[in-house]
Amino acid sequence: MTEQFERIFGAVPAGVWAAPGRVNLIGEHTDYNDGFVLPIALPQAVSVAARPRTDGRLRLYSAQGDDVVTDLPVDALAPGVVTGWAGYPAGVVWALRAAGHPVGGADLYFGSDVPTGAGLSSSAALECATAVALRDLYRLDLPPAELALLAQRAENRFVGVPCGVMDQMASACCTEGAALFLDTRELSHRQVPFRPAEQGLVLLVIDTRVKHDLGDGAYAALRAGCERAAALLGLAALRDLDAAGLPAALDRLPTELGPLVRHVVSENERVLRAVALLDKGEFAELGPILTAGHASLRDDFEVSCAETDLAVETAVAAGALGARMTGGGFGGSVVALVPRESADAVAQAVGAAFAAAGHTAPVVFEARAAAGARRVV
Ligand code: GLA
Repeated sequence: MTEQFERIFGAVPAGVWAAPGRVNLIGEHTDYNDGFVLPIALPQAVSVAARPRTDGRLRLYSAQGDDVVTDLPVDALAPGVVTGWAGYPAGVVWALRAAGHPVGGADLYFGSDVPTGAGLSSSAALECATAVALRDLYRLDLPPAELALLAQRAENRFVGVPCGVMDQMASACCTEGAALFLDTRELSHRQVPFRPAEQGLVLLVIDTRVKHDLGDGAYAALRAGCERAAALLGLAALRDLDAAGLPAALDRLPTELGPLVRHVVSENERVLRAVALLDKGEFAELGPILTAGHASLRDDFEVSCAETDLAVETAVAAGALGARMTGGGFGGSVVALVPRESADAVAQAVGAAFAAAGHTAPVVFEARAAAGARRVV
């Protein structure tokens, strides 16, 4: 990173920072309903070599990009001005400055091993890597949760994607060997030990290679549907509805909103059940909760697709204790909790099923719960 930075910017960086991608164990489409989520950070991360500039220019280069330096005056940053990948780091600079943080120019060189479009939060990793680097370069007083909120604001307002706060909180606040139990209403969170290897289990990530894109309108429509349902029920958010109140609530809603509400209510309960199991060290019991979560996303929320459904079904048939799509949906990745001795068989079975169905070969890897955004050099 340091050498590449020098090649592009002709100077030595002040340091190198990294922020991870994530997989969510359970708690999907609950974050923008003020609900609960349980993600882990991945070892795969966006890294950034950085140095401050005194001339108010923001220069951005990505090793994954098309070999051009994007050069922007920080004073002129505004929503809609920057398109493409550079909008994410530029949006973070804009959000920090809009919140009153004294951030000036910078040279930023990005590298990444988080696959894009795989539902593994490469965008949040890019935002959070930028934010931790600028925090240290400009000595900002920016606790991790506040950093995550500003990264989310960059994505909501600058890039224009109406995501919740889960991905940025995961990238900013996760710790090694733990899942982040997050209450997205309060932003209160707790680290829940997650070391499946100690119980002879592995968490496999199956990237279906079906590119998902949160910006395509479907995500925004689902979010709007949930918010409309909450408003019709007179609730601040669907978080405020529980299973006991569900039947009466469904009677009051137009039929097309019922399944969305049913998913959110049942998913919040699954998160609480999952946390209780992990607290007791009963990892294997998590499996059925994952699979039930997938059924709910497939049948009620309708965000799965043929490839994610096939990966889940095949993984479970080949010995996984449970599996589900993770992230926003419409493609992306599946997580599967698998006894170590069955991991190869599961990976092979999914590969064979995809080949038989004529799908692109999936990429399967083992996920470990890694650390959140940090300085590395
Ligand atoms: C995406 C969004 C998150 C969350 C998930 C679904 O990853 O960025 O905020 O809504 O989808 O759980």
